[in-house]
Amino acid sequence: MAEKPEMTEVSEAQIASHWKEEDYYPPTLKFVAQANMTDETIYDRFSLENVPDCFKEYADLLDWYKYWDEILDTSDAPCYKWFKGGLINASYNCVDRHLAKNRNKTAIHFVPELEEERVDHVTYQELWVRVNEFAALLQDFCGLKAGDRVTLHMPMSAELPITMLALCRLGVIHSQVFGGFSGKSCADRIVDSGSEVLITMDAYYRGGKLLDHKIKADEAVEEATKQGQKVKKVLVWQRYNGKYSAETPMVEGRDFFVNDVLKKYYGKRVEPVKMPAEAPLFLMYTSGTTGKPKGCQHGTGGYLAYVTATSKYVQDIHPEDVYWCMADIGWITGHSYIVYGPLALAASTVIYEGIPNYPDAGRCWRIAQDLGVNIFHTAPTAIRALRKIGPDEPAKYNYDFKHMTTVGEPIEPEVWKWYYHVVGKGKAAIVDTWWQTETGGFLCSTLPGIKAMKPGSAGPGMPGIHPIILDDEGKEVPSGEGKAGNICIQNPWPGMFQTIWGDRDRFVRQYFERYCKNPNSKDWRDWPYLTGDAAIMADDGYVRILGRIDDVINVSGHRLGTKELESAALVVEEIAEAAVVPVKHEIKGVEPDMYVSLKPGYEASDEIAKKVQKALINEIGPIAKARKVWIVPDMPKTRSGKIMRRILAAISNGTDVGDTMTLANPEVVEAIKKMA
Ligand code: WTA
Repeated sequence: MAEKPEMTEVSEAQIASHWKEEDYYPPTLKFVAQANMTDETIYDRFSLENVPDCFKEYADLLDWYKYWDEILDTSDAPCYKWFKGGLINASYNCVDRHLAKNRNKTAIHFVPELEEERVDHVTYQELWVRVNEFAALLQDFCGLKAGDRVTLHMPMSAELPITMLALCRLGVIHSQVFGGFSGKSCADRIVDSGSEVLITMDAYYRGGKLLDHKIKADEAVEEATKQGQKVKKVLVWQRYNGKYSAETPMVEGRDFFVNDVLKKYYGKRVEPVKMPAEAPLFLMYTSGTTGKPKGCQHGTGGYLAYVTATSKYVQDIHPEDVYWCMADIGWITGHSYIVYGPLALAASTVIYEGIPNYPDAGRCWRIAQDLGVNIFHTAPTAIRALRKIGPDEPAKYNYDFKHMTTVGEPIEPEVWKWYYHVVGKGKAAIVDTWWQTETGGFLCSTLPGIKAMKPGSAGPGMPGIHPIILDDEGKEVPSGEGKAGNICIQNPWPGMFQTIWGDRDRFVRQYFERYCKNPNSKDWRDWPYLTGDAAIMADDGYVRILGRIDDVINVSGHRLGTKELESAALVVEEIAEAAVVPVKHEIKGVEPDMYVSLKPGYEASDEIAKKVQKALINEIGPIAKARKVWIVPDMPKTRSGKIMRRILAAISNGTDVGDTMTLANPEVVEAIKKMA
């Protein structure tokens, strides 16, 4: 059956609940004077007419073993191949090529949560040594080769990028699962990707607690085995300095401490494998409209060219910069803008363990001061939290940001202004970058040395990215009229995902079918990309993102599929039906509220509500925990039996439920309202 995402029209109320974008803020002259990109003609060079040839400029930021022959192969549209015929290695581009000039420069600063532990500063030389040794281990001890998949379930650590770079040195496809996800979530990704090796870490610190992470590997392997996927080896890194570690025992013959096995490979070197530009580099699973997360497959040459260029022109990274992106490497932001983009540019990238506001509200500003961070990248959720607990804290620290980023969710103008005036001290340029796991890199953002900032608006399409707002009939919504619609991208770009791992049909159905002009066409102009967000374009071409139009809830910038959450609740024996809705939250943007009805013969109880919460944590992870579990007598339903989530959302948010008389069971709405 066609799995077309169900589009809910963006209501006037949804638009009204959003702010209007505000006035322009120009960047400072000091910023512009040093910016990597100040040439306004870039927008002409990357016009729609010049796609795809314009992207040659981006590919030229990389070192190729063999230059490509064809910039874009559309013969299997909309599965595109970029830079066809080229041979390249991502590990070489992020490590080896910097040795000549930057051997002794710090590549990675790892900041442990415990302030009594010292920061680890890994130079490019050391990174090269460690990547080579680990690649030798992966090749020899695990027998891995190009095209194999390996699942990583690692917390924030220097070993995580080392692992990624060692794998891509061999052409092995990595699939990193967010460390906060449960063993069960990890298992689903192991099975889908067909990984025979799992790489993890014994433990990590978060909010003052040492978390046993190894235990999740045991759960993941057990579950994957049940689903028919054999995991032959589990490699366990020991957390930085190995002093504090998990108690979960190792399984003989299956689990190995990396540090023990690695001794045999000290001093070993592995030549990077010359990979075709279009070979997959990694999979990143993300939530969509069904319960099953999809593995977004990113290619090597196209992806790397796109994240390198956008890191240079949007993040304004110069080799002498100290760059800190606070995202987790388990998300796409971390892949593109902690690991691949910054390292391809020979920057120093900061990786930190823990959370922004522990042990106190000054932690981020202290790290920035101590490491000399001058480019800072975070999400609205973190900005809101830091503003709430320590509004005056940044002023106490002596750091100097030239540039700041916000990503992941819409940012309210008041929050933007605090970020600008208090965190950036009125000096830093801000970019609000809108993009997705699928898109590999930024879609809309200002170029900070060229365009003025506008609080509440992401900015225009990036050079070479041509957004268009379409209505449900596929007609263009003209800009400047304040009307919302479905934001699509008219053209392919090198950073976009190649397909959904093992499911080309789903890829086409979900992202292209809706506005496809001709399903047999090999011309990219016939395949606009549906992003799944609603947006408004102002007459200056700046885009304001309103949020998702499909069944995805964005909690603290983390994507959770409503179907995934509901399937997790349905694991509880007593539950008959489940429906999840987003509720506004001061810090997180939104939180999920879980409505459940019980099978006959069961009585509502706190016990059951607790079981549901536990199921959400076990099946997905703590980020999936509901604000509240409502055990309702029945779900409000249409006469055709469809659950009316809109009504539940109104009850949760305390807004008007509207007309309920057309429902099959309007009395249920009254009963649920009384529970609020
Ligand atoms: C939302 C994260 C408003 C959007 C990079 C998108 C944003 C989803 C912004 C992708 C932004 C991301 N302003 N909304 N600057 N950035 N989003 O795949 O709804 O985790 O579709 O990628 O986050 O989330 P994902």
